[in-house]
Amino acid sequence: MTSVSDAAVALADVDLEAAGPSPTGLDELDRVLGGGLVPGSVTLLGGEPGVGKSTLLLQVLRIRAGTGTPVLLVCAEESARQVRLRAERLGPLSDGVALLPTTDVSAVPAALADTGAELVVVDSIQAVRDPATSGPAGSLAQVRACTELLVGLAKSTAVPVVLVGHVTKDGGLAGPRHLEHAVDTVLTVEGDRHHALRTVRAVKHRFGPTGELGLFEMLDTGLAPVTDPCALLLGDRRPGLPGSIVLPAVEGQRSLLVEIQALVAPTGAPTAGPRRQAQGVESGRLSMLIAVLDTRAGLALGRRDVFVSVVGGVRVAEPAADLAVVLALASAARHQSPPADMVAFGEVGLGGEVRQVPHAARRLSEAARLGFRYALVPPSCPDGPPGMRMLRVPDVVVASELLDA
Ligand code: TYD
Ligand code: MG
Repeated sequence: MTSVSDAAVALADVDLEAAGPSPTGLDELDRVLGGGLVPGSVTLLGGEPGVGKSTLLLQVLRIRAGTGTPVLLVCAEESARQVRLRAERLGPLSDGVALLPTTDVSAVPAALADTGAELVVVDSIQAVRDPATSGPAGSLAQVRACTELLVGLAKSTAVPVVLVGHVTKDGGLAGPRHLEHAVDTVLTVEGDRHHALRTVRAVKHRFGPTGELGLFEMLDTGLAPVTDPCALLLGDRRPGLPGSIVLPAVEGQRSLLVEIQALVAPTGAPTAGPRRQAQGVESGRLSMLIAVLDTRAGLALGRRDVFVSVVGGVRVAEPAADLAVVLALASAARHQSPPADMVAFGEVGLGGEVRQVPHAARRLSEAARLGFRYALVPPSCPDGPPGMRMLRVPDVVVASELLDA
């Protein structure tokens, strides 16, 4: 194991090989990490309780141990027995995973030295305590002190450390948000409790690009990679349903067809104002699109409840989703069925104009591969694959009129 020294070195002498990432063995995770975990790096894996963080990391530890690499799991939340029971669900037990059931973070350096581990997972950063710092586990001071100690340990031993951090929807827990700057990489696991799909993304990555998407399905035997997400995401779609539009999304290197659904209903509580509920799309963006539809296309939703959701528990962050959201809203408000084999993508500006978005060719070819034959696209969009009919729409007025045809 190499250790990090304080002496200056010539830039040209910096060893690039030694600092390269080593694969975790879970391809979907390595895709997000740009190859794997870098020696001496600290990665924070954040997500809501129950989303599958412990499961994912236990899988990584087992795979690494299976290749003969000693690894260490600091379990501060669960007993060793609970971890073993979980491990048994994941498959036959292998040697090489050392458990340290403790909440005392100062015990980690010695355990690392004892086991010769080449990967350390701390589950979770909110459950460990530094005895040299006051305050209860999970307090800001403790989370900071523990992170600092573990970052120092990673840097001085060149062993990668992964921290689990629980995040609640409202960001209420002290922790992950406050230590993002202290770690090299921040990954988030997301997923809807009621769906099997789990997404992993890098929101910060010092060693590679962010924006890559890893996809898993939560099974009884742990998280399995999803190689054809469309089967999972469009599997139960009822084509032609008013308010339902398919968006060819692009996340990192990956094309993903997702169904956007909208429901527009008379408001139930006139005194409290209409409800606006967005799931999987940003709520501020939804409000903007509602306002654009109202002002530019005369579709007044001001006194109606609006619900928009991306089916399957996926989150779509790109502006390319705008046109699909607008069409879903218009189709829902007017009870019009969109063509079953149509997709739509494009950014919508405040003037109601439809704007070009990146990766048009990839979106169109993925849509064509899955049997879609019409695409509502921005005016300057290049042609898609043969057989794909392109309906170029300059603005939201034309777009919503096209639904009538
Ligand atoms: P867990 O990894 O404990 O979540 P976190 O560490 O993020 O809090 O996952 C908990 C959920 O996953 C729990 O509801 C049970 C479910 N699960 C499965 O469906 N299959 C499995 O093989 C395992 C281990 C867990
Ligand atoms: Mg857990």
